[in-house]
Amino acid sequence: MYEILTVEELAPVTKLFEVRAPAVAHSAQAGQFVIIRVDEEGERIPLTIADYDRERGIITLVVQEVGKTSMRMGTLQPGDHLASFTGPLGKPTEIEDYGTVLCVGGGVGIAPVYPIARDLREAGNTVLSIIGARNKDLLFWEEKMRGVSDELVVCTDDGSYGRKALVTIPMKEMLEAGRPIERIWAIGPAIMMKFCALTTQPFGVPTIVSLNSIMVDGTGMCGACRVEVGGQTRFVCVDGPEFDGHQVDWNQLLARQRIYLEQEKLALERWERECQRGAEQGDNDV
Ligand SMILES: Cc1cc2nc3c(=O)[nH]c(=O)nc-3n(C[C@H](O)[C@H](O)[C@H](O)COP(=O)(O)OP(=O)(O)OC[C@H]3O[C@@H](n4cnc5c(N)ncnc54)[C@H](O)[C@@H]3O)c2cc1C
Ligand code: FES
Repeated sequence: MYEILTVEELAPVTKLFEVRAPAVAHSAQAGQFVIIRVDEEGERIPLTIADYDRERGIITLVVQEVGKTSMRMGTLQPGDHLASFTGPLGKPTEIEDYGTVLCVGGGVGIAPVYPIARDLREAGNTVLSIIGARNKDLLFWEEKMRGVSDELVVCTDDGSYGRKALVTIPMKEMLEAGRPIERIWAIGPAIMMKFCALTTQPFGVPTIVSLNSIMVDGTGMCGACRVEVGGQTRFVCVDGPEFDGHQVDWNQLLARQRIYLEQEKLALERWERECQRGAEQGDNDV
């Protein structure tokens, strides 16, 4: 069992969890992820390692509540335990001194981009960063990102904070201005990563994305996470999660993310009914 030490609300549907998992923290690296189960009967969901503290044996996760399991996780409190916590999984980010790099995080993607930006800066890179969200309430870790960036642009889709723009706008401007960007990391919803890759393609700057395909086992055995990259079938859990964004078949990824929509909706409705029944029984008991 893996104890939750801290829960912090970063945004209305986004929470940070610090989890005691010394073995995972010991070998965790930027770009990797874990697969957790909230309870013994629960489904396995992949979550990126947003930070780690090797000395204290702690892994930080940032979770956006989008369906049954992430919402169920959102009900947990410090002192509660996760039933399983498998990792670190996937290949770490290739950290080198490239020169100048650009790190782009959209929405919950700000969390996984943070340790990558930090490690790239420590490796000697000049780190330019762009973070964006739909609105001010959904933004988080601005100061953390500023601390690991030489320059930071903050955007919101609705202009409620920072610049009113999608992240692709300042990204394109930096490239058009001839900034000597050697490599770009873009992490966020698949649709954002797709448009980041389309924006950078004409400039020929390698653009690394972290794919969020549906996963089950996380060991390359089940095939749930398969994607086409450069015309080849790859498994996100073992070959990724980072890939060359210019080579990804985005339409296939977006379609595969939606294949269980009906089951996900039913699972959420059933869980909400159970919660309601539990609350009513609790009321009756009182
Ligand atoms: C490598 C990787 C790292 C990720 N890191 C994070 C993270 O740090 N923070 C975060 O909030 N989310 C992250 N995700 C997405 C997260 O796993 C899904 O949001 C979660 O599984 C949704 O489950 P649910 O039951 O709450 O919602 P559901 O209603 O079941 O699903 C909502 C949507 O989430 C996706 N999804 C559902 N089940 C899975 C699954 N088993 N594996 C992957 N995607 C699924 C589907 O696109 C689905 O339409 C990551 C995904 C991957 C592949
Ligand atoms: S999750 Fe099963 S092969 Fe990747």
